[in-house]
Amino acid sequence: MGESSRTGFVAGLEDVVAAETYLSGVDGEAGELTMAGFPVEELAGRASFEETVYLLWHDVLPDPDQLADFREELSGRRELSRATLDLLRTVAVEKVPVMDALRMAAGTVRPGTDEGEALALVASLPTIVAAYSRMLEGEEPVDPDPELGHAANYLYMLTDDVPGAEFTRALETYLNAVSDHGMNASTFVARVIVSTRSDFVSAVVGAIGALKGPLHGGAPGPALDVVFEIGDVSRAEAHLREKLGRGERLMGFGHRIYRVRDPRADVLAAAADRLYTTDGDRELYDLALGVEQTALRLLAEHKPGRNLQTNVEFYTALLLHGLGLPTQLFTPTFAAGRVAGWTAHCAEQRALDRLIRPQSVYVGSKDRIWVPLEER
Ligand code: COA
Repeated sequence: MGESSRTGFVAGLEDVVAAETYLSGVDGEAGELTMAGFPVEELAGRASFEETVYLLWHDVLPDPDQLADFREELSGRRELSRATLDLLRTVAVEKVPVMDALRMAAGTVRPGTDEGEALALVASLPTIVAAYSRMLEGEEPVDPDPELGHAANYLYMLTDDVPGAEFTRALETYLNAVSDHGMNASTFVARVIVSTRSDFVSAVVGAIGALKGPLHGGAPGPALDVVFEIGDVSRAEAHLREKLGRGERLMGFGHRIYRVRDPRADVLAAAADRLYTTDGDRELYDLALGVEQTALRLLAEHKPGRNLQTNVEFYTALLLHGLGLPTQLFTPTFAAGRVAGWTAHCAEQRALDRLIRPQSVYVGSKDRIWVPLEER
């Protein structure tokens, strides 16, 4: 796994402690995620997204007045500038993927104080995603509604319909569950950027780039595609065996840190179950459960002893699909939740004010003699 006994280098930096944080802790052996003191199961299904952001930024839940002020500060920053809208319209013509458009548009958030940038980033990421997704469909963006909460407004801007309480709750549970997760790759990127005394906007742009990769935030789309490809649970085993036989990874399973089931998968499974019971394609949900069981059985055979389990992405896919989101919006919606944690980590790193600058070990050759071009 990229481990070198000669230099002690471990390619994935696993087990390297890169920060002390008050934001979230992942216990991969016990399958526990603590967010600012709360087990994820306690927080995700109860808090509004604004409460979670406030908690991560201030390490305390807001009282009613603080929450009202915070909601107002965020909702006042949802609108996009003309420059951002023009950029999105231009790239929509070329059908640039949503994560790329999000990365570009996040970079247009105006520089300001750290707090101002953090507010603007959290407030405007959903507007960027919703506006761009409508542009791709040839529709006009829907202006944000300051009367609606953060999650409800996101669904409203996507669909031009005010969502019901069930849908809003399901999305808030999702956004909360993914708002922070220890030293994941995109968070690490954000902290490295801020450690150079660069700005929060640059940090979030870098983090979006890291989140986009299929080994990090890009898995839920492919995870759901597999369920659709299978179509009927009787075909699950043959289909998944074929994938594993080709050396492919099953998306939505396995995790760098968790050696047992990802606790966020349970939180999202419960939310998805509620959603598909009240409103949704129950057949698809049952098919997905069948695919999950088959995948777990085959992964146990494929990598005995590794205990590859369902991760957050599998139920993310089901939940977001149940909310009517197309697969291309899954990772951008993940970004809209994780930006809470990115900005909180940026603030933590800012307070630490220590340049992150690890070592590398040179393993190349030495003392080469320069050969002039005409003699090579
Ligand atoms: N399907 C098939 N095989 C898998 C697998 C999966 N989902 N996840 C891990 N494995 C295999 C690896 O290929 C590796 O095999 P090897 O020893 O023959 O090389 C072995 O199991 C151990 O892998 P591990 O070291 O535990 O994985 P990792 O820490 O390098 O990677 C992930 C973790 C998340 C990148 C990996 O599990 C994965 O690619 N999962 C699918 C993508 C996904 O769902 N990502 C979202 C994460 S929240």
